[in-house]
Amino acid sequence: MIQSKGEILFNQEVAPSCWKMQLLAPEIANQAQPGQFVHLRCTENYSPLLRRPFSLHRASERKIEILYQIIGQGTRLLAEKVQGETVDLLGPLGRAFQVKGQPEIIVLVAGGVGIAPLYFLAETLLKKPPLNSKLILFYGVKSKENLLGYGDLKKLRINLEIATEDGSLGFEGEILQLFQSRLLSFLSQSLQVFACGPLGMLKNIASLSLKYNFPAQVSLEKTMGCGIGVCRGCVIKGSQGYLRVCKEGPVFPVEDIDWAAIS
Ligand SMILES: Cc1cc2nc3c(=O)[nH]c(=O)nc-3n(C[C@H](O)[C@H](O)[C@H](O)COP(=O)(O)OP(=O)(O)OC[C@H]3O[C@@H](n4cnc5c(N)ncnc54)[C@H](O)[C@@H]3O)c2cc1C
Ligand code: FES
Repeated sequence: MIQSKGEILFNQEVAPSCWKMQLLAPEIANQAQPGQFVHLRCTENYSPLLRRPFSLHRASERKIEILYQIIGQGTRLLAEKVQGETVDLLGPLGRAFQVKGQPEIIVLVAGGVGIAPLYFLAETLLKKPPLNSKLILFYGVKSKENLLGYGDLKKLRINLEIATEDGSLGFEGEILQLFQSRLLSFLSQSLQVFACGPLGMLKNIASLSLKYNFPAQVSLEKTMGCGIGVCRGCVIKGSQGYLRVCKEGPVFPVEDIDWAAIS
């Protein structure tokens, strides 16, 4: 884990209430893996006191990017920051997505800003030749204006399935409906699923995984304190005992979670 001051290279609104920040953070960028996160201070002072966690959205040799939605005080302050300012970062933290072996199909399911770590996963898998797996990204948002990084996604060599709740682009409805409608056609081949998005979507993916017996990993969110496994502020109930989202997660195989206990 590295603590560093990352210089902001850009910080811009990329969709309504959603911002992308690029930071110069060479040491974190070098170690970053898809699914890991950075824990950052939104201000120089202590209001808010706690750092805020954000998935790594991209990492190159020297730079990292995060995609963030404006939710409350911390993210509002983050959006006020401009190029040249620095942000105190801790990272990369937590467990990453892990593709096991060479499945025939890798499916990524992203809801809203859940695209952040899955874009990084797709980009990383595609950089690692030879990728013999077919890679499919299911990505759902409310409306086409909420799509994040659509131009970049179209450039990736990936099968892209879009759903919008208002029908403004792609399938009309929720991304889970679209994923579910295609799922049976994937099951004759070896399949691994990776997902990030609203809790309801992740719960449904977990029950589909258990019902149809395919491996799935999900990235969970929990309000965090320390971000490094010390305070136990992010504990959830797992199938074998309690788990810290910041340390044993944020990426978990679905069978490790006691889904009935999570709200
Ligand atoms: C591992 C991890 C990765 C994340 N990655 C991203 C990302 O890539 N992009 C992104 O936009 N967000 C991400 N988040 C969520 C992000 O951390 C919160 O949106 C942010 O901390 C809100 O800070 P705030 O000060 O703006 O809002 P606050 O003032 O802290 O919160 C406003 C309201 O939102 C609720 N809230 C805050 N954080 C969370 C949370 N994590 N889950 C559920 N409710 C919450 C609070 O209870 C409060 O009611 C991630 C969270 C985790 C744990
Ligand atoms: S946030 Fe402190 S243990 Fe996870």
